[in-house]
Amino acid sequence: MGLLQLNFDGLRNLQPVDMVPSPGINVINGANGSGKTSLLEGIHILGMGRSFRTRQLKHAIQTDAPYLTLYGRLAGDPDAALGVRRLRASSELELRVKGDKNARLADLVQTMPLQLINPDAFRLLEGSPSGRREFLDWGVFHVKQGFLEIWKRARRALKHRNALLRHGRINPQELVVWEQELANWGGKMDALRRAWFTEFLPVFEETLERLLPLPGLTLHYARGWDKKRTLADVLEGSRQTDQQMGFTQQGPQRADLRIKLNKQPAIEVLSRGQQKLVVSALKLAQGRLLESASQRRCIYLIDDLPAELDEHHRLLFCQLLEDMRCQVFITSVEPQALRQTWQAHTRVNMFHVKHAGNGLSQLMPEG
Ligand SMILES: Nc1ncnc2c1ncn2[C@@H]1O[C@H](COP(=O)(O)OP(=O)(O)OP(=O)(O)O)[C@@H](O)[C@H]1O
Ligand SMILES: [Mg+2]
Repeated sequence: MGLLQLNFDGLRNLQPVDMVPSPGINVINGANGSGKTSLLEGIHILGMGRSFRTRQLKHAIQTDAPYLTLYGRLAGDPDAALGVRRLRASSELELRVKGDKNARLADLVQTMPLQLINPDAFRLLEGSPSGRREFLDWGVFHVKQGFLEIWKRARRALKHRNALLRHGRINPQELVVWEQELANWGGKMDALRRAWFTEFLPVFEETLERLLPLPGLTLHYARGWDKKRTLADVLEGSRQTDQQMGFTQQGPQRADLRIKLNKQPAIEVLSRGQQKLVVSALKLAQGRLLESASQRRCIYLIDDLPAELDEHHRLLFCQLLEDMRCQVFITSVEPQALRQTWQAHTRVNMFHVKHAGNGLSQLMPEG
């Protein structure tokens, strides 16, 4: 699993990109503002249908360009190609997955598992639970079959229950129907999340041990409702307060991963560099579990790695990444920085993004 070819057109400041990446490590060098992050962004949109930089994809379309098209061919299946197109004039995203024009976002995500490690990724520890829930569900979605369907049903039941709660006078019969639905699918979501977490935890601990031993660091899965009660019971018992709040306060929509050091929230006690290494271990562990559980490898996009990591830890990180034998796209502002890092047997392609003189940049392979 990996990209054999990439063609981008109309992406930010990049002239049409025609890239043949290595199945191993791809280093993208270039000055500030040359377009390195934009290249990673293109791969991210191709695999996830959304950008990690902007909520509105129109901003990624090159100024004055009528559209943005992204195409990628994957190794393995000869038809395994992905395409994403966004016209400036329309807010719709056109997707094509393995020749299927009616492909949905989930097909795209399923076909090309991606993990991003960039300076924002380190907000995973400090930010709201939604980022951690997304991280958790990425793992469950890729490793546990049927999760998406269950997740959709639970979300639908939650939407209906919330709508009724906001309605003022509640029709109890209607509420009971959606509560049963939510309790049923929410329980199933929890079971799959829990099963995934049981597999994930040892992989994370082993990864962290290699990167930065932190005795006392613990990772917990919190399902989103009272530990001792069933979801049906919790929903029934909290009708009144839920109605006052106008939403369902407990349930699978409140699940979280709790990271602590000696029982204190990790974010309050870890240094910046330690936080980055913990998040890196989480992200690398995702890919390692994916491989062992489903024999699929994910593609890593790594932007601006050196920031706040010392040389020793940067090297450890790169070694771990290399041992996973994943395809990696990693940017650097220092042309020499990531040249000698890799072992002799690893296939490394170097690329350079250079200003082309017309306000745009060009991606070129380096000898
Ligand atoms: N829609 C757009 N059309 C044209 N150019 C754009 C668009 N959006 C952003 N740019 C420009 O693209 C350039 C590349 O930005 P990018 O963030 O990819 O650079 P970078 O190489 O990652 O830089 P750094 O090393 O500072 O992180 C910037 O100069 C930016 O102003
Ligand atoms: Mg950048």
